[in-house]
Amino acid sequence: MQYSSALSRWHTTSAIRQFRYEDIINDGIQGHLPFSPSLVPISGHPLVKEKGVQEKILYRCMTEYMLFTTYLEILLINPSLTFLIFGDHNFNLDDCIYTDAMKIYCDEGYHALFSLETFTHVDIPYYKGIREIKKPNSIQRVFNIINNLDKTRRGVALLSFAMVSETMVTNSLLSAMKDETVAASVRSIISAHAEDEGKHQAFFMRVYPLIWHQLPENEKNELGSIFRNFAESFVEPDWDFYSAVLQESSFDKAEVNLIISDVKSTFNLDLAVNSATPATRKVLKNCEHELLKKWERL
Ligand SMILES: [Fe+2]
Ligand SMILES: [Fe+2]
Repeated sequence: MQYSSALSRWHTTSAIRQFRYEDIINDGIQGHLPFSPSLVPISGHPLVKEKGVQEKILYRCMTEYMLFTTYLEILLINPSLTFLIFGDHNFNLDDCIYTDAMKIYCDEGYHALFSLETFTHVDIPYYKGIREIKKPNSIQRVFNIINNLDKTRRGVALLSFAMVSETMVTNSLLSAMKDETVAASVRSIISAHAEDEGKHQAFFMRVYPLIWHQLPENEKNELGSIFRNFAESFVEPDWDFYSAVLQESSFDKAEVNLIISDVKSTFNLDLAVNSATPATRKVLKNCEHELLKKWERL
């Protein structure tokens, strides 16, 4: 299968080459919501509305989202690209794939930076410096899955995680952008990110099947059973984080438990995974049809 580049216009269209965000973050929130309520299920709960803390919670979740992006790009996606470009493997791939991977590496570094600067630009009482922030639970879940594997398999597993994440990420970014109640500054930062991610998705959709066909059978078997775990770790809301946010908003323990259990009762993990992963499942189908059966095991 011939590879055709999704990043051929990168030098003129990528965010790192043409998106300036300094003035945008100065605009702040300006009477709009800091984040889309559709992305924060606890924000619509009647007790949250009654107490008048919806905006505070959305603000906290927006900053957590920006921080999550920073961690994701620096700790997971860029290391996966480093493995693809210079890692210990014998993939036979077009040279153009490696230069495209380097373009994505630059994109992700820029996404990490502008997400972090959005986060640190505003005065946040709990922010004590980059190295003091707790790693988001979903990121830790991915590390746990990868570190459970034999050391020699972790590079390919990381790359497989990147495929899953990069084929899912555009959906969530796009839905966040459509909500016009959200501040234009936040939406334009998310939008600049989403435009790059559309190209990254095309890259992984084209490249991952080429890699898959070069993997040994035992490695394919092992990976087949963890693609879905990767997707679930990103789709499942971080209930511990939500509990902490509610406590910060002065809800007592009983109220926190009530809100979390109400929201949990409306959440369906299988449905959420399915709606977030049409492109991911297409990649798996292009690798081999049997992979979808493993994916749908639940
Ligand atoms: Fe990104
Ligand atoms: Fe990306």
